Formats: sequence, structure tokens, C-alpha cells
Amino acid sequence: MTAAYWPSHVVMEVRDASKTYLTGPNEVHALADMTLALRAGELTGIVGPSGSGKTTFLMIAGLLEPPTTGEVRFKDQLIADPATKLNSLRDFRRTHVGFIFQKANLIPFLTALENVQLALEINDAHPKAARARARELLAQFGLDQREDNYPSQLSGGEQQRVSIARALANNPVLLLADEPTAALDGTRGRQVMEAFRTLADEQRVAVCVVTHDPRWSDIFDRIVEMSDGRMTAAKPGGAQASRLKL
Ligand SMILES: Nc1ncnc2c1ncn2[C@@H]1O[C@H](COP(=O)(O)OP(=O)(O)OP(=O)(O)O)[C@@H](O)[C@H]1O
Ligand SMILES: [Mg+2]
Repeated sequence: MTAAYWPSHVVMEVRDASKTYLTGPNEVHALADMTLALRAGELTGIVGPSGSGKTTFLMIAGLLEPPTTGEVRFKDQLIADPATKLNSLRDFRRTHVGFIFQKANLIPFLTALENVQLALEINDAHPKAARARARELLAQFGLDQREDNYPSQLSGGEQQRVSIARALANNPVLLLADEPTAALDGTRGRQVMEAFRTLADEQRVAVCVVTHDPRWSDIFDRIVEMSDGRMTAAKPGGAQASRLKL
């Protein structure tokens, strides 16, 4: 697969996907008939009530869970279907996908700086270059004074910002974020959303953000609504409206 131009700029597409979890005798239909393409340079918001399948969609689009039926395509080529062993995609994920989880998920025995640096070094960055880039990313999210703190010494919002810096470390072409601003105050939250907007606009990253926060609707290109594992609506977000006015 090349990084060159590809038709329609679709980075990742989840097509006709469903996800059923078995918990004992019960089946949970977490996702049903979901088709959604995430395009280069597009910032997509996903909204919906608790349990509606938002995280499940991100896990499938980010190749962390296989779909039960349907498929996932990267730049128009099949990359995952129900038979795919996702372990085989670990290297691909590391170089192409940035994931920000609902919980910060930092490695507890590494400092903030080391957490970000490790993401780069696993991807073969030289330790010195990795350190410099990790510093730069932490500073971008206002954490330059927190580099040497361990996660347990950081507030929830600070931990979340470290995990955002970590997700961006390897310049992913697809960024998936699960309620990244839930632990942040309004100013920090906006900063993070604006950083996502810039990544989409300037680096053509496909960004998909699950959020409950109506304050960001002006920043999205489109807002996808989910309910009971299905997509119930897809509407233009405020960013499209402001472009149309230009
Ligand atoms: N690993 C799992 N095993 C069993 N059921 C699961 C699993 N993960 C999710 N589910 C179920 O699938 C449904 C969708 O869950 P999901 O986490 O995608 O919802 P969500 O929209 O992200 O909700 P929230 O806003 O609360 O984070 C829920 O009913 C949930 O209980
Ligand atoms: Mg969720």
C-alpha cells in the first residue's frame, strides 16, 4: 500500500459492519449495519446516548476489534474482516492510526515524557529525536512543566493530554478519539479540538471524535448520530457551514 493519492480520499471505511458480543448466554448487538467512510482532511463527530455503539465503531475503524460481519477498508483495499487476526495488523496500526481512549491508558511506571517517547521509539525513532519530539508535543498541550511526572501525579485532564500527545507522536493518517475532552475544562478542551482541526486542515489527517459535548459542533465537518448500534443521521457540522459562507 502506498501513501500516494487514492480515489475519493477515503482513509478508512467501515462497510456494512456489525458487532455482536457474547456475554454468557446473552448476545449484545453493539453495532448493526454500520457504513461510514473517514476521509482525509475531514473532522467527524460521533454523538449518541451511552451504549449506542460509539466506542465499538472506533474500535472497529481503528482495527482494535474485528467486525462480526462486514469489512474495514484502508484506502479502498480490504484490511479487516471477521476472519482477520488483528495481531497481524499491529505494526500497521502503530504507523497509521492514533487512538485516544475514553480513559487515558498511560503506562503507570513511565513519566509523561517517557510515555510519549516510547510510542516513537517502538516505531524506530532514534531516542534523542524521540525525546525532542515528545517534548515538543507535551509543550503543545501545555505540559512542559509536567514531563517528569508519573501518571499518578497528574490530574485526569493532564493524563488525557499526555495520551493525546502520544496518539499524535507518529503522525497518524487516521486519528480516533473517544471523548478526549471529557476531563478537560472549556479552554483546554477547545485547544485540543482546535489541534484536531489543524491536523485535518494542514496534514489532511482523517479525524473522528466521539463526544457528548455540544460546544464543539462548530468545529466538525459532519456530525454522525448513533442510536442502538446504528447510524441514525449524518449532518453537516459548523465547519462546513462556515466554509459555505466564504
Ligand atoms: N467487550 C464487550 N463485551 C460485551 N458487551 C460489550 C462490550 N463492549 C461493549 N459492549 C456493549 O455494546 C454496547 C455498545 O457499547 P459501546 O461501548 O460501543 O457504547 P458507547 O456508545 O461508546 O457508550 P458510552 O457513551 O457509554 O461510552 C453496549 O450495550 C455495551 O454494553
Ligand atoms: Mg464509549
